[in-house]
Amino acid sequence: MIKLNYNNVDARIIGEDNGLNLEEEFENYKETIMNIIADLNQRKDKPGQWLQWMNLGYNEETVWYVKEFASMVEGRFDNILVLGIGGSALGGIAVTEALLKPYWNLLSKEQRNGMPRIFFLDNIDPDCIGGLLGMLDLKRTLVNVITKSGSTAETMSQYMIVKDLLEKELGDDYRKNIVATTDKQTGILRQLADQEGYKTFVVPDDVGGRFSVFSAVGLVPFALVGIDIDELMHGIKDMDLALKNTDIKENIAAQNALIHYLMDIKKGKNLSVMMPYSSRLKYISDWYVQLWAESLGKEYNNNGEMVNIGPTPIKAVGVTDQHSQIQLYNEGPNNKVITFIRVENFDTTLEIPKIFEYTGIGYLGGKTINDLINAEADSTRVALSDYSRPTVTITIPKINEYNLARLLYMLEIQTAIAGELYNINAFNQPGVEQAKNYTYALMGRSGYEDSASQIRSKMAAV
Ligand code: PA5
Repeated sequence: MIKLNYNNVDARIIGEDNGLNLEEEFENYKETIMNIIADLNQRKDKPGQWLQWMNLGYNEETVWYVKEFASMVEGRFDNILVLGIGGSALGGIAVTEALLKPYWNLLSKEQRNGMPRIFFLDNIDPDCIGGLLGMLDLKRTLVNVITKSGSTAETMSQYMIVKDLLEKELGDDYRKNIVATTDKQTGILRQLADQEGYKTFVVPDDVGGRFSVFSAVGLVPFALVGIDIDELMHGIKDMDLALKNTDIKENIAAQNALIHYLMDIKKGKNLSVMMPYSSRLKYISDWYVQLWAESLGKEYNNNGEMVNIGPTPIKAVGVTDQHSQIQLYNEGPNNKVITFIRVENFDTTLEIPKIFEYTGIGYLGGKTINDLINAEADSTRVALSDYSRPTVTITIPKINEYNLARLLYMLEIQTAIAGELYNINAFNQPGVEQAKNYTYALMGRSGYEDSASQIRSKMAAV
């Protein structure tokens, strides 16, 4: 079970000014939520609705092709290098960081069960790109270039650099070291991949980048490093079934969406902090930040009215950020909802030795680090509620493929429901596209000349 504890948003716990009368609100929104869930499930198969991500758990064909490819290349590569940005990278980073053994790339091949190391280049810092490419043995590296549009300047520039290096090292054989994940028909990468003869996978239609982690975008790198993608699918399917329940009392994604929405519109708490108490889940926060920000931050609502709406997501990690952000969260403006993610059972139990008993740290001896992290999560939650700060806690039994897939899929559905409550389109990203287009213009892409001269004059003015 994935559990959601929302006691600490209740007015009975944190007071009328900051809390919600949840039983009453669940009753008030019963029908709205029922209609939203029914509507999403009806629309999901219709083209142009951008809801195909709700069907990814059932895409057995892709799973089969991905597994076939992974077994074909098994043993041939020491490194997987993923080139992608935003939705084409964040899910991959989040899932591999959570599911692979910690410090994966530093482990010996034996410790990695013969599986390759994995690197994500999701930025264009020249030092970092240069440093990584200088370190990797490209002959033993499989490059997975991922871009839905097939034209994103960051990803394509990385691809051009890497392709050139590979060709210089491997001659014509370089093609075997590239696998492309992109649109089935359109885009420059699709054209190049077909022309060059790369192995390709498809980013399905109507799946936006931030909802694509369980498509080939994520599945290919996951399978290449030995993550059990059948179990991921199993997790999504089970969660999908659970979240088809239109009764808000039984649907944790709907509950959490409604809590965040009401906290924003009724209590002015429009910052959403994601704080897993687990380093392995640290990048789930990065993934969530993109999911929440790009989906819910919108200029217009579905009626065409200018609303400039959207809660601001913030990433944090427990316990580290107790020593960084919690001072502000306890005592600063009461304008946030904090989501804790708790892990019931860690893979490792680490005992603190009974030493230094005669000193002030002697009390720690004989306890476990597991006790400590859980005690800190509890004490932070209680302290926040003493200050009347709303928090929700999502608990997962342990970190594995099944639970992680359920958690991410739940957050995706939560986002979709929140979008409907805000009455905005959660599946487009015009603000991102605008910045991309400006970049194309400034870098001299043909067709963007007018835009380039406009931007240059704006730049001169500021
Ligand atoms: O979620 C999104 O749509 C974006 O973050 C994209 O994933 C990101 O801009 C990368 O786009 P592309 O996959 O087309 O290279």
